[in-house]
Amino acid sequence: MGKIIRFGVSMEEKLLETFDHFINREGYKNRSEAIRDVIRKEFVEEEWEKDVIVAGCLLLVYDHHKRDLVSKIMETQHNYHEIIISTQHIHMDHKNCLEIIVVKGKAETIRRLYGILKALKGVKYSTLSKASTGRKI
Ligand code: NI
Repeated sequence: MGKIIRFGVSMEEKLLETFDHFINREGYKNRSEAIRDVIRKEFVEEEWEKDVIVAGCLLLVYDHHKRDLVSKIMETQHNYHEIIISTQHIHMDHKNCLEIIVVKGKAETIRRLYGILKALKGVKYSTLSKASTGRKI
């Protein structure tokens, strides 16, 4: 971590009240930590709009009995092996699987991979969690 610099922030009372509610709800110990996280989150969003390397996590819930689904998911992952860091497969019950795919690469490529996987027939639920490699935040 670099040098810590203190600075004053002015804002409307009502906005600060709302922010303090947010801080309590989220369990922050102080405003500084909350402000840092809000700023970092904004920068992660910005990284995802630029041509830089980002990280993220795709989550899929699917029925593995669905015809050809498992092989399609596998084939897609092999096609995108350059951005897939790791995958974790959890057998939720007799028919449902949950898969976590950790990725690192250009946002555009990650979005393309996510688009293919979530549209496969038999994928019941999917999310894309945007993250950063952490170098710039
Ligand atoms: Ni499974």
